[in-house]
Amino acid sequence: MTSDEIRKKFLAFFEKRGHAIIPSASLIPEGDSSVLFTTAGMQQFKPYYIGKKDAMADFGSKNVCSIQKCVRTSDIDEVGDESHLTFFEMLGNFSFGGYFKEEAILFAHEFITKEMGLAIDYVSVFGGDDMVSADNESEEIWKRVDSNIEVRKFGREDNFWGPTGDEGPCGPTTEIYIDGIEIWNIVFNEYYQKKDKTFEKLPTPGVDTGMGLERLAKTIQKVATVFDTDLYSPLIESCDVYIRRAGRERVHGDPALHSKRIIADHMRTSVFLIADGLVPSPDERGYVLRKLIRRAYFHANRIVESPGMLLGQVCKKIVDIYGDDSRRLDGTWEIVNEEIEKFKSSLKRGENQFDKISSNIVSGKKAFDLLQNFGLPLEITKDIASEKNMSVDVAGFEEEFKKHQELSRAGAEKKFRGGLLDHSEMSVKYHTATHLLHQALRDVLGGHVLQKGSNITPERLRFDFSHGAKMTDEEIKKTEELVNAKIAEALPVSYEDIPLDEAKKRGAIGLFEEKYGDKVRVYQIGERDSQFSLEFCGGPHVKNTAELGRFRIVKEEAVSAGVRRIKAILE
Ligand code: ALA
Repeated sequence: MTSDEIRKKFLAFFEKRGHAIIPSASLIPEGDSSVLFTTAGMQQFKPYYIGKKDAMADFGSKNVCSIQKCVRTSDIDEVGDESHLTFFEMLGNFSFGGYFKEEAILFAHEFITKEMGLAIDYVSVFGGDDMVSADNESEEIWKRVDSNIEVRKFGREDNFWGPTGDEGPCGPTTEIYIDGIEIWNIVFNEYYQKKDKTFEKLPTPGVDTGMGLERLAKTIQKVATVFDTDLYSPLIESCDVYIRRAGRERVHGDPALHSKRIIADHMRTSVFLIADGLVPSPDERGYVLRKLIRRAYFHANRIVESPGMLLGQVCKKIVDIYGDDSRRLDGTWEIVNEEIEKFKSSLKRGENQFDKISSNIVSGKKAFDLLQNFGLPLEITKDIASEKNMSVDVAGFEEEFKKHQELSRAGAEKKFRGGLLDHSEMSVKYHTATHLLHQALRDVLGGHVLQKGSNITPERLRFDFSHGAKMTDEEIKKTEELVNAKIAEALPVSYEDIPLDEAKKRGAIGLFEEKYGDKVRVYQIGERDSQFSLEFCGGPHVKNTAELGRFRIVKEEAVSAGVRRIKAILE
């Protein structure tokens, strides 16, 4: 069975059982800055579990299913073994008060044994602890479904899931194991974990399940590793084709295979992150992408003499396999390549540094220096060290990193306290127009659009933002019209100083990470709760959008890969 057949069977199975099919959310979570990336299918549904949104109204059903693209980098060191990946597709069915344990277990059992034709090794249920009691109900249901099934009981570590980020729905799980690996995680979201780690019972318990497509494909296709499934073998194959053509392989056997797997995994993750609007940068999210591209390059460099060409082939293959009309992946290679160009020479210089280390331990300070001055992420330092039979003081590195972050945060506070520097009447107008433009771009192009830079003079505004493609004439027109509509609505502009958490909760956009003091200032355009724009900002702004006049975009151009620039004027 191909992985595409698995996807189709999964959605069809649950659609037939009253689930609405919901498309995958972006890998960059919207309105939830407590997590870097989308790591689970349930993330986009958080508001439905807590009764903030109504699934019946939005989806026409209390039950939904999806295939969610996910990025998890916590296991990055394990990538290359039989089952760990940084990007995967999660098959999930969810219920917000539609059904609970009985149906969830029956569905999972039927899908695995009948649709997929697989035999379950054993299942696990939550064994209970001092906070939450054992899940005897699930055990009884499993026994009823199949009296021969082995039910194991595990603790919080294994059989309790969530929340994502620092608060949210969570609960005990029951999990299905096949061939010794966990295939399906079925979570019963009965609780809400608050920031202070205390629990509250949710008024309506929900179901959240997740099954990794790659692992399921490995099991069904009876292959040894996820890299041998049809999801990955074309990528490994494209490495091999390139190596054969290039005629020279620097390393052979297991080390080469390990590198190919890392390349395939990291490139796939990078392509999908870029497609959702991310670009490599020193910021938290952008840095993860930077790390993945650089590490893929490092491993390509390990096995061939033209690593850039090898990565280009793999990237092209990924775009061929996964790109279609609804998923625009073209243009991703340019962004990868630009990052490679930046990194090439520093990798060489960084590697040379290793020869100067006399002990067989890379100290934390040295590892940090390799990052700061030679652009070598810790993961690459670890890779090089292991090649040379050296070890790295990871804890020491983290300490250095933290010190550095505190210093740069202090610098950022200074930078943002000022807000707009020139307070002339026109500059203030342009400042408000910039907020309107920022939100309008997000409405027209999508939530991946974020401010990357802004420059205001009394003559014009200039705004840089993340977006992978040139804007079409129609998109430009729509954006202009939206800004002008908001000007015509004569919306009031006001600010409030509120705790960072609350600003996040209300969905404010802007530079959250840069805290100054306990409270942040947010500017809103429009009435509270129905505002058009809510943005973290030091001000100042006009009192009403009616003061702005007519807004016109005069230029739209590229600044760097994945970042566009708009110049606009008020007439
Ligand atoms: N949310 C659960 C998981 O990610 C299903 O495993």
